[in-house]
Amino acid sequence: MIPVCRSISEWRELRSKRFNGHSLGFVPTMGGLHEGHSSLVRRSLAENDFTAVSIFLNRTQFNNASDYETYPANFEQDLALLEELGADAVFAPDYELMYPDSYRYKVSESLDSLSLEGAQRPGHFDGVLTVVLKLLNLSGAQRAYFGEKDYQQLRLVKGMVDAFFLPIEIVACETARAEDGLALSSRNRRLTEVARRKAAAFPKILCAASCPEDAIADLRGAGFDVEYVVDEEGRRFGAVGLEGVRLIDNWPLSVLQQTKGSLS
Ligand code: PAF
Repeated sequence: MIPVCRSISEWRELRSKRFNGHSLGFVPTMGGLHEGHSSLVRRSLAENDFTAVSIFLNRTQFNNASDYETYPANFEQDLALLEELGADAVFAPDYELMYPDSYRYKVSESLDSLSLEGAQRPGHFDGVLTVVLKLLNLSGAQRAYFGEKDYQQLRLVKGMVDAFFLPIEIVACETARAEDGLALSSRNRRLTEVARRKAAAFPKILCAASCPEDAIADLRGAGFDVEYVVDEEGRRFGAVGLEGVRLIDNWPLSVLQQTKGSLS
């Protein structure tokens, strides 16, 4: 059975007894695990002696209560998957354990965190950065694995690690996609069958349009509620709503040039 630590003392004991003197990779998650998380775990297993995964549905990063309440978590299924993958430990704290200060102390970034996802979801990145700092500190890991689907999150976590001299390497992992191209996300489970089929057009349109304005028009034409499509720092970022479910994605602009038309 995969060991599950629910307290900081249990986690520290396991860390010093089992992982001391070995390389440790860390995959932070909010549960609701899918193939995207599995690919991060596999990469960590390949690059480290041991791999630990945290499962913590971090309330402070949800600006929308119903998004938090409907997040598709399933702890037992997550444990079974992690065991099958061969992960070595799970850290599963509760809110009181992670926030003994009742969230009085926060990490706040004052530029990048206010655009794109940050503009749509006020306070979101404060919650993300604060919990990630806590988790990275507790993990004692040498490497932590983050998916490029949440590219802005990845960029901000890297910036925080540099700004605070955290002794950990942040490893960026390519977005895992379904066969039809949709980026894997726990939220995809909330799509109806019809909406799920429709959702496949999102990455294709984002990729095929020659500029953000065209992408916005094409996405609207295909029935999406468009929050934003923006080209910046060599990538195209998009966020849309479909029957009340939010989807985000991004592509390097170099990929857009190469694949123009081939994803349609
Ligand atoms: O990407 C996520 O699942 C979350 O934002 C993270 C990094 C686990 C922090 O809660």
